[in-house]
Amino acid sequence: MGKVLREGECKMRKVLIISSSPRKDGNSDMLCHEFAAAAREAGAAVEEVALRDLAISPCRACYDCWSTQRCVLRDDMAPLLEKITAADVLCVATPVYFGLPCGQLKVMVDRLLPRWQGLGGKDVYLIVTGHDGRAGLAHAADDLRLVFENLGDTVCGVVWGEHVWQKGEVAGTAAVALAWLMAKGAVPVVGMTKPHHVDGAVEACGFALTDEECAYLEEPYVPHALVGVMAENR
Ligand SMILES: Cc1cc2nc3c(=O)[nH]c(=O)nc-3n(C[C@H](O)[C@H](O)[C@H](O)COP(=O)(O)O)c2cc1C
Repeated sequence: MGKVLREGECKMRKVLIISSSPRKDGNSDMLCHEFAAAAREAGAAVEEVALRDLAISPCRACYDCWSTQRCVLRDDMAPLLEKITAADVLCVATPVYFGLPCGQLKVMVDRLLPRWQGLGGKDVYLIVTGHDGRAGLAHAADDLRLVFENLGDTVCGVVWGEHVWQKGEVAGTAAVALAWLMAKGAVPVVGMTKPHHVDGAVEACGFALTDEECAYLEEPYVPHALVGVMAENR
């Protein structure tokens, strides 16, 4: 589990948010915006990227990059790879298509090859959206977890945009609050009515908060103006 980020610490962090949905302003984008708003509010340097705005061709498996560290394809992946390399925190969002991450994201992942040995040590947050419940979205999340763990990153949390299909359906669901909290490095304590709630709580046992972190969490709540999706839907 990622460390709770105090504001001063967060200012030092570069957060790159990658939405892979081909649908602008859909559920994946909305949760990305919420994550971005919370990370910005916490003082991080945040950049949001949508893969649909970039031209990224599939890897040709020529392996030239193994000797040159550069891809022979001259498209938008080279600048994106620089951004990914520079980021301390990655937030990667995918709609679930036929139970898997969408193809646009897989194409991008394959193009990480020129730097695959230099992309470790990042905190990664995943956003998965779909009309299924969590069980139906889990395979896509597991696939992405495998990718980033193999690169040497830590997957700190998953935002489940479950039971959503039409544009905007995710607004007002618990996933929005979760995206916000995770950008701040925290997870909520949920009422346990289902087995996966128990699994989530067990996961939380795998990390310890420092005294400083506890003190930060226990500071009195100071109300602030609504931002992101919450502000737009007032
Ligand atoms: C080609 C295609 C396949 C899909 N397959 C699934 C699926 O297997 N499971 C699921 O839960 N949702 C599936 N969906 C629904 C989308 O995942 C869902 O609408 C999601 O919210 C889309 O994200 P967006 O709003 O960011 O575009 C599919 C949608 C499309 C277009």
